[in-house]
Amino acid sequence: MEQKSFLQTGGRWTQVKIKTAIASADAIANYLFDHQAVGLEIQENNDEYSTLLAYFPQDDLTTMRLRNLRRFIAKLPSFGLPGEESITIEMRAYDSQDWANSWRSAFPPQEIGDHVVVAPTWHQMEEDEPQDDELGDQSGTEKILIRLDPGMAFGTGHHPTTRLSLHLLSGLSFKGREIVADIGTGSGILSILAVKMGAKKVIALDIDETALNVAEHNFVVNGIKDHVDLRQSEGLVNLTGKFHLIISNIVSQVILPMIPSYPQYLRKGGKLILSGILDSESQTIRTALRDHGFQCLQVRQQDEWVGILAQKGN
Ligand SMILES: C[S@@+](CC[C@H](N)C(=O)[O-])C[C@H]1O[C@@H](n2cnc3c(N)ncnc32)[C@H](O)[C@@H]1O
Repeated sequence: MEQKSFLQTGGRWTQVKIKTAIASADAIANYLFDHQAVGLEIQENNDEYSTLLAYFPQDDLTTMRLRNLRRFIAKLPSFGLPGEESITIEMRAYDSQDWANSWRSAFPPQEIGDHVVVAPTWHQMEEDEPQDDELGDQSGTEKILIRLDPGMAFGTGHHPTTRLSLHLLSGLSFKGREIVADIGTGSGILSILAVKMGAKKVIALDIDETALNVAEHNFVVNGIKDHVDLRQSEGLVNLTGKFHLIISNIVSQVILPMIPSYPQYLRKGGKLILSGILDSESQTIRTALRDHGFQCLQVRQQDEWVGILAQKGN
């Protein structure tokens, strides 16, 4: 890695210490990683806060990096995540190279239930873990491996809203003919799982161009590009056809107005996975689903987040 040569020369570093509400830690870690932090570690984690340490070469880009990081943090509320008011940033010069090999620990592999493992591309799988050459149709009882490069897009499998969606999705079964829509695909993680479970085709949409680039990369890495139609689009407006399953892990403010429209894009008995819903908003979403002919099949909760699996009635 080119960064290593800088490490080996014993260059000086800037350490950026970010204390953040736990809900935003995943997104900030992704951002730092994607913006050439050559070291990244989690110093401390508890139920409420996470302290991240990121390291950059000490150079004349330091001020610009900090300004861009603050801009990114200011945008977090638009993803439904805590923003500036719950985040502090400190900077200092740093000499030690101790962290050189520890930063990758910020993205350990994630197990989702018994059958799904999400691992960064650099992680070497052990013999008893699913292997890359097992990719392909992984329906059945074998473990499914999702490879992800953390990028600026949301969705490494560490955030509760993604985990809830992965859990609900992994409980479904696919017969190789299902057509799925993934609204707000982010890193593409849910589309990848749907295809690896046996869905025939996924229409993956996102309003954010950065997310589209990250998702496309992840579809290639996972060998599923031919099964995905990736488009920049907002909500359901450009969707055509009827789907066996629609997934939306966004935020309640975006999901709620879409509930009256979901039925027209779902086949009879089609399913809906909704996530990004706060516990305090869950009842409103469930009532709206019932009012539009859906039956709630499963409601899962992790921390203050709720994920719902619902089915369109007859
Ligand atoms: C919480 S992330 C979920 C990402 C990924 N699906 C996951 O489960 O981790 C929400 C994603 O929805 C996108 N998004 C937000 N509003 C949207 C809208 N109205 N239409 C389509 N995508 C939207 C965001 O850009 C972001 O990538």
